[in-house]
Amino acid sequence: MQRHNIPCARSAIFSSYDEARGYLEKQKPPIVVKADGLAAGKGVTVADTIGQALDALANIMQAKASGAAGDRVLIEERLEGREMSAFAFADAHTSVPMVPACDYKPVFDGDQGPKTGGMASYSPPHFFSPALAKTVTETIMEPTVKALHDEGRPYKGVLYSGLMIADDGPKVMEFNARFGDPETQVILPRLKTDLVDILLSVANNDLHQMDIEWSSDACVGVVMASAGYPGSYKKGFPITGLDKVDEDILVFHAGTKLGSDGEVVTSGGRVLTVVAIGTTIAEAREKVYNNISRIHFEGCHYRQDIALVDENH
Ligand SMILES: Nc1ncnc2c1ncn2[C@@H]1O[C@H](COP(=O)(O)OP(=O)(O)O)[C@@H](O)[C@H]1O
Ligand SMILES: [Mg+2]
Repeated sequence: MQRHNIPCARSAIFSSYDEARGYLEKQKPPIVVKADGLAAGKGVTVADTIGQALDALANIMQAKASGAAGDRVLIEERLEGREMSAFAFADAHTSVPMVPACDYKPVFDGDQGPKTGGMASYSPPHFFSPALAKTVTETIMEPTVKALHDEGRPYKGVLYSGLMIADDGPKVMEFNARFGDPETQVILPRLKTDLVDILLSVANNDLHQMDIEWSSDACVGVVMASAGYPGSYKKGFPITGLDKVDEDILVFHAGTKLGSDGEVVTSGGRVLTVVAIGTTIAEAREKVYNNISRIHFEGCHYRQDIALVDENH
């Protein structure tokens, strides 16, 4: 991103613990420390003090808490703003924006408690204006696809950018080379064009010929989780009320299976995502909560504050 002037946090990268430590001791908090590799979602520490950042650094590079992902670290400025995810389909030359989404990682309302794989999402973010859409496409998505092509590694597929919308514009915190869960559940219901046609055009490098249409509806998705998740939890509880939801509600099964009598039982931490579509975010939000309360299993919990406007969302 630095080589191609794609907006992101100011950062420095280190392979030596002593050099990273020396650099960190000269920084002002808040600061972010990242293991430069796959760390099962546990590689990033947003530190309020240099002491916390030094602890995170030692944990990554000395204790090797995330194994080889800790061979290199990234130390970067903390960005302030609202977080959102932008998506694009990309073939080797072209990118076509999808509709964006916001997701919610912490397990409890008000972003309290430990991080999860994702407790909810909604699309579009209420602060996503046409001007912001244009900036994200022109300063982030298109330059990234071009940069990958120009550096000899053309990228084809779904480009997912985790963004912080700062006062001076959107900045990239990460890229993923896939859809997100549960963002997909609120994005694809808004897609009017056949997904298979789009994927074929990606494979054949003729995405530029595709006319991809999205509905202007809003979509809110809320995950129902097992008691104890994201810590340890029990499985095998019967799920009732799946047949009680309104016809236009989507219920995506994740941690479920059929029990011995053919009944649906829980089989994971994140059990279901319940998704509602509405003409406004408020309408979709009301529908999702109206319907989710009809589904039940022992110990089930879900966030109640999804798609409300607050200082972080
Ligand atoms: N530079 C940054 N400034 C502020 N918050 C950050 C920064 N980088 C990451 N974060 C926070 O940490 C979270 C996880 O970081 P991310 O880069 O998305 O890693 P992961 O691979 O774990 O998803 C982000 O969703 C964001 O809330
Ligand atoms: Mg992330």
